[in-house]
Amino acid sequence: MEKTFLMLKPDAVQRGLVGKIITRFEDKGCKLVGMKLIKVDRSLAERHYEEHKGKGFFEPTVNFIMSSPVVAMVWEGKNVVAIAREMMGSTNPASANPGTIRGAYGMDISRNVIHGSDSVASAEREIALYFRPEEILEYNKAGEEWLSE
Ligand code: TYD
Ligand code: MG
Repeated sequence: MEKTFLMLKPDAVQRGLVGKIITRFEDKGCKLVGMKLIKVDRSLAERHYEEHKGKGFFEPTVNFIMSSPVVAMVWEGKNVVAIAREMMGSTNPASANPGTIRGAYGMDISRNVIHGSDSVASAEREIALYFRPEEILEYNKAGEEWLSE
């Protein structure tokens, strides 16, 4: 089953949005298979955003995700990578659809509440950065048969 890496960024934790955002993914039908509250160090932050190294927003973005605890999560489901990106909305909350997480909870691109993997390959890379294999749990979830065939 497809997996994605989602991170509730420091602004989400500080603003008390953790429960509301997790509820959206639970309500959608996604399955939580890994979760931890962590403080990201510089080495991890730089590896997380390595595709953006050299861009003007790289340093501020790295510093931001190190600034306060984040919630790192792995969610599972059919097409969950694309579904989660749709639910998050576009990168800039100022122009994100107001029905999306960034559109509902953000005002500025530098404080956009949530990170989500942009492809299955990115998800595999990011999950491995944040989680050991034994921290991803396999279990049967009640009602799975009512979500898809
Ligand atoms: P990016 O990977 O382009 O966006 P997304 O998070 O939607 O995959 O950029 C990574 C993060 O860098 C983004 O979530 C917020 C920050 N950022 C800026 O602060 N300014 C910018 O102009 C861009 C493109 C990103
Ligand atoms: Mg990205």
